[in-house]
Amino acid sequence: MPGKEMKRILVTGAVGQIGSELTMALRERFGNENVVATGRSTAPSPTLRDSGPFEFIDVAKKKTIEAVVERYRIDTVYHLAAILSAVGEKKPQLCWDVNVNGLYNVLEIARERELTRVFCPSSIAVFGRHTPVHNTPQETILSPTTMYGVTKVAGEALCDYYFQRFGVDVRGMRYPGIISSETLPGGGTTDYAVAIYYEAVANQRYTCFVREDTVLPMMYMPDAIKSAMDLMETDLSRLEHHSNFNLAAMSFSAGELAAEIKRHIPEFQVEYEPDFRQEIADSWPRTIDDSSAREEWGWEPGYDLAAMTAHMLERLSNRHARGKLYR
Ligand code: SER
Repeated sequence: MPGKEMKRILVTGAVGQIGSELTMALRERFGNENVVATGRSTAPSPTLRDSGPFEFIDVAKKKTIEAVVERYRIDTVYHLAAILSAVGEKKPQLCWDVNVNGLYNVLEIARERELTRVFCPSSIAVFGRHTPVHNTPQETILSPTTMYGVTKVAGEALCDYYFQRFGVDVRGMRYPGIISSETLPGGGTTDYAVAIYYEAVANQRYTCFVREDTVLPMMYMPDAIKSAMDLMETDLSRLEHHSNFNLAAMSFSAGELAAEIKRHIPEFQVEYEPDFRQEIADSWPRTIDDSSAREEWGWEPGYDLAAMTAHMLERLSNRHARGKLYR
């Protein structure tokens, strides 16, 4: 591939919400055969399966990762396999095993085999009740209330340790809730902000599991993908932080989200029936100060609520018209 740096990339969690789209973006950029998608149990979509290599691995079992790293001569890992906040509260032991032991395995492989670079996202779930909720600073109190948040705080610390102690070039940011139209999220607290679009298109009704006044930081998938690619391509010498960049794009309440959708679908009705996820949402910040990401690697989001909503509704309506909304 003249003019492009060669890489041999492994994506864990490639069947998930972010992984499925990030894998395709990486294949586009680095060549289909150079990006190995992996998942634990869910079968890949035809798009993922037919565009390049796919393997099953369990990140909590080091040997299964090693076999793929060896076979495909991997030098870069995008480690996205994780159990999210809501499922993590139902299965805290599994959440620890996948999120912490899985990351430890990936970092150990990176150390032993001197891999070039590792990407591992963190989350707004690292914050908690004692963290300032407005314009949350980069350096602040991390007091997670969920097992997912606990694993992400541990993960950030582990990544920084591997960088300082062993020189493993591992990078990541604290993603806000990610909204996307291709793959549904797998059991997070911010899932309502995706489900609401699907249900608006399918039924013009949605029952939301957080209160109308719940404000959380969110981001549209194209920005999430751009941020991962940009951070991974930044010269190491520019980075003061590594695995814990605050990252922001937009913040809105569930009610503001519903109102924006109503501008396109006037008959859309929303009811609010908060469940256990309300408490998780209430423990997370409303707005985030991401100036370190902006300064160190030039982060800048492209989508706000209005632009994202227009784009989401167009994509989902087109799919719905073909009878393939939920695929
Ligand atoms: N979207 C994630 C969740 O809700 C937050 O990182 O669990």
